[in-house]
Amino acid sequence: MGFTRELLLWGSENKWLENQAGRRSFMRKAVQRFMPGEDIDAAVDAVGALSEKGISRTILTQLGENVTEAAEADAVADHYRDVLGRIGEGGLDADISLKPTQLGIDLDFESVYARYKDLVQRADELGRLVAVDMESTAYADPTLELYRRLRADHSNVVLCLQAYLHRTKDDLASLLPLSPTIRLVKGAYKEPHDLAIRRKSDVDANFLELADTLLEAVGKGNGSRAFFGTHDPRMVVEVNKRAEAAGLPKDSYEFQMLYGIQRELQTRLAGDGYLMRVLISYGESWYPWYMRRLAERPANVWFLLKNIF
Ligand code: FDA
Repeated sequence: MGFTRELLLWGSENKWLENQAGRRSFMRKAVQRFMPGEDIDAAVDAVGALSEKGISRTILTQLGENVTEAAEADAVADHYRDVLGRIGEGGLDADISLKPTQLGIDLDFESVYARYKDLVQRADELGRLVAVDMESTAYADPTLELYRRLRADHSNVVLCLQAYLHRTKDDLASLLPLSPTIRLVKGAYKEPHDLAIRRKSDVDANFLELADTLLEAVGKGNGSRAFFGTHDPRMVVEVNKRAEAAGLPKDSYEFQMLYGIQRELQTRLAGDGYLMRVLISYGESWYPWYMRRLAERPANVWFLLKNIF
């Protein structure tokens, strides 16, 4: 993985840079490419605009991570209760996705569990899903524990797993008896070299191996579900090929992509009858998230530079 990626990921954790970025209008303008706005109204407008393009499935997520006070985590949970209200009122085909550190996992596990559980229950009444994002490896064990406990009582909860970690194969194997719903991604954080797979081609190979395991679980018809969170056209082709070979229909698994990324591929997949869900992020705390997007595709740094000049 290249030096530019490492540098951008280092920058994503730098508070001084974050402070500077928030004051720069060119940064705010560049972020709009991946984010319709800073509040829920902008996100709900984007749901409508996507629907007009044939993509009616979405996921809403308010940006923010590593809250340092319980009151902040409670405010985040309140916000998502309102979002679920908006989803219910509008009859939107929208799920929600939340980071454990946004609900206070740095502070106290039981409170985080209680906040998720309340949201999962409310979402269940609306027939919607709540996804637990996976953050850096420091949080992997408590995040898995969180998922296991939520999954014990509810089927409408999703866990994100990252193909760049050596441990994920074992984590997935340990979750399969729960008939889990997994969103498989490659992984977006700066990780120690001994924990993460270094070469991109090896990460891709692991992604496909994990995809095979997930598709096999889906094929058993025991309630396991597979979501593939990737913009990589090669992963999309491979997943479809493997699903077809296993005799799985197009609507037995789902692709998920971020708002603004690979828009044509999103529309094409939805038009071809695949399940395509777009994750719409919004909020004021966009800096670390945006830097991780740049790290995924350093070519986007040029887009940022064009906005400066
Ligand atoms: P990768 O970065 O390997 O690039 C492969 C190819 O995909 C590129 O050559 C290009 O063709 C295309 N591509 C990728 N990014 C592009 C871009 N920005 N613009 C245009 N083309 C692009 N991560 C995590 O650690 N925890 C989480 O909880 C989540 N959650 C999550 C949810 C959803 C819905 C998605 C889509 C992604 C995440 N991620 C995540 C992020 C994920 O780990 C990963 O960093 C990104 O999806 C980038 O990896 P890809 O597989 O998309 O392609």
